[in-house]
Amino acid sequence: MATMKAVRIHEYGGREALILEEAPCPEPAKDEVLIRVAATSVNPFDWAVRAGYLNGYYSYTFPLILGLDVSGVVEGVGSEVRGFSIGDSVYARSHPSKNGAYAEYIALPASVVAMKPRSLDHIQSAAVPHAAFSAWDALINVANLATGQTVLIHGAAGGVGTFAVQLAKSHGARVIGTGSAQNLDFLLGLGADEAIDYNVTRFEDVVHDVDVVLDLVGDMGDNTQQRSWKVLKPGGMLASLVQPPSQEAAATHHVQASFVSTDGCNGQVLAEIGALIDSGRLSPVVLTILPLKDIRSAHELSEGRHLRGKIVLTVDKN
Ligand SMILES: NC(=O)c1ccc[n+]([C@@H]2O[C@H](COP(=O)([O-])OP(=O)(O)OC[C@H]3O[C@@H](n4cnc5c(N)ncnc54)[C@H](OP(=O)(O)O)[C@@H]3O)[C@@H](O)[C@H]2O)c1
Repeated sequence: MATMKAVRIHEYGGREALILEEAPCPEPAKDEVLIRVAATSVNPFDWAVRAGYLNGYYSYTFPLILGLDVSGVVEGVGSEVRGFSIGDSVYARSHPSKNGAYAEYIALPASVVAMKPRSLDHIQSAAVPHAAFSAWDALINVANLATGQTVLIHGAAGGVGTFAVQLAKSHGARVIGTGSAQNLDFLLGLGADEAIDYNVTRFEDVVHDVDVVLDLVGDMGDNTQQRSWKVLKPGGMLASLVQPPSQEAAATHHVQASFVSTDGCNGQVLAEIGALIDSGRLSPVVLTILPLKDIRSAHELSEGRHLRGKIVLTVDKN
């Protein structure tokens, strides 16, 4: 059986559970493409799975390869696949409950794969799928963000937030982002109209009448979600990627609230996001590039919860 290098976990645990080892190389099914992974990236989801926080939400089979994001080159196509050929540069988000992209190869349904944005290399492209789709899903699909509306983005400097600020601006919204002192100029440079230092200013003291709150922090961050109700105008929308908001509290404040689960990521949306990137309206922010073998350090950095943008992992063919 052909093998490849992959980072797997054999049980839930700390960073020591991440093991770089030989694993079976996947074979593409009839509707799948086999991708040689050039780069992947770290999302908080990865270490949440590793630690067992999502046990019960998704069912996993061990050993499990983590990693949602992939950018790479098509090396095989199933008999029913149309639209992709060997040698195509592609990107994708893997299924959250299946083997992921911390590996030399991944086989994925062609329906979740898109051509890589032409203006990005594989390292930049690997920073895009999960984070950009999450921002898109929350702002466009769930919150229906419209031109002229005001959006407050908590956690604006992180992996999802950096895409959310740019997407909201490209939709003609007024954007207010929260972050710590070292990220305020960065957020303004990304296009935010206003940046609030959450360590200094209670956002609810200075922000009112917003149409949409995008919650990327939750209540672990000083009750950020609960404190957000009062900044919304009647009829507004709180969309959280972190924890389900209380429908009771939403009704009390005459607003809508939704938990956004990003299971619907597919190749069509990634192609639209790629077009935005190639038109210059959206760019990934890559903070650090590490080789896959440094995966434990990468998780440690991400678990610190103070990243500016994304950590990308390069995957070399051995
Ligand atoms: N439901 C889903 O399908 C889904 C999808 C994607 C993401 N998520 C979740 O959404 C959250 C954000 O994801 P991510 O990838 O953007 O995470 P991330 O990259 O780890 O976010 C880090 C950012 O959070 C900021 N931050 C930390 N505490 C804050 C606070 N109290 N107020 C404002 N900003 C704060 C940090 O800014 P400073 O360094 O300036 O403090 C940093 O820039 C995670 O919990 C993730 O699990 C869920």
